[in-house]
Amino acid sequence: MRNVKKLRVGILASGKGSNLQAILDASLAGEIDVEVAVVISDVEDAHALERARNAGVPALHIHPGRFRTKLEPSAEAAYVHALEKHGVDIVALAGFMRILHDDFLTHFAGRIVNVHPALLPAFPGLDAQGQAFEYGVKWTGATVHFVDAGVDTGPIILQAAVPVEPGDTRDTLAARILEQEHRIYPRALQYIAEGKVRVEGRRTFTASPAEEGAAS
Ligand code: GRF
Repeated sequence: MRNVKKLRVGILASGKGSNLQAILDASLAGEIDVEVAVVISDVEDAHALERARNAGVPALHIHPGRFRTKLEPSAEAAYVHALEKHGVDIVALAGFMRILHDDFLTHFAGRIVNVHPALLPAFPGLDAQGQAFEYGVKWTGATVHFVDAGVDTGPIILQAAVPVEPGDTRDTLAARILEQEHRIYPRALQYIAEGKVRVEGRRTFTASPAEEGAAS
């Protein structure tokens, strides 16, 4: 960890929040230059909100409105308003089960990240672990990527590969993928906090130009 200004991250989560916990743990331990500024959920009793409260982080439930897979426009505006009120630099999706649309994406353009339980671009969308398991791949993994208007299509920041073992079930595989998510998500946020992530089209580079020069 370097002595840089802390990156204020707003986290959106719908479920158990284990990725949120990994980020909170790394942040509270001083391992990353990240402060979780607020956690917002579309699910009132999401365990993620309890984890935030336990860590002393503002935890909000904002009703998503009447849709199942997206936020109603007025709800989306409320999410943007709450994130701005808490002064977030970037938004991290951590098991947030709704697709974000134009106003949100435009407002936080280039400042939204997500973690996905597969080696994108393979197996985007829901139950990526089950998709990979059923397909019969020998390797899958986890991906941290920027969010754009597509589903799991934004530029990739970090990936970790996970082998599919002969005795695996969908759930044992998912558990090993989750371990890697917990490892690479805080690390990706740290790269962003250090200003190290440069995006060129679809490609990202996670070192400063000086380091890239030194490494070549
Ligand atoms: C993770 O597998 C993540 O990749 C996916 O949803 C799951 C969320 O898990 N988008 P948790 O709520 O962080 O435990």
